[in-house]
Amino acid sequence: MGDDSPGRSDDDRVRVTVLAGGDRHEFEADPGTTLREALLDAGHSPYTAVTGRLNCGGRGICATCGVRLLEGPPPEHWHDRLADRFGYPRLSCQVRLTDDVTVRIPEKLVWGGRESGGSGDREDASGEGTDPPG
Ligand code: FES
Repeated sequence: MGDDSPGRSDDDRVRVTVLAGGDRHEFEADPGTTLREALLDAGHSPYTAVTGRLNCGGRGICATCGVRLLEGPPPEHWHDRLADRFGYPRLSCQVRLTDDVTVRIPEKLVWGGRESGGSGDREDASGEGTDPPG
């Protein structure tokens, strides 16, 4: 017996539809799970290869877990509200699944779009290094 409310799949699970690279995938997740957890568990990482290892672990700080939420709950977390307000991808770690959602995982480069790791990465706008003291 399932829930008859709109936006909820059978057996009190939520349906997650993922659009990525021209493909469409659907899976179910437990209500209350964050979208980030559900995506990772289903093999649809919102991260790049680098940010998959270097992220804030779902604390809403690093902004590397962004997805385009085409159907889903309104933002609650301050960072996610700003992302939504200014048209940036929503933070999947701050979206708690309560009803069915549809997300698009955007094409991503390395976080910040900077792949080179030379000394220039540590210079500020004045051209002076910004290494921490010590
Ligand atoms: S994992 Fe860092 S903001 Fe979502």
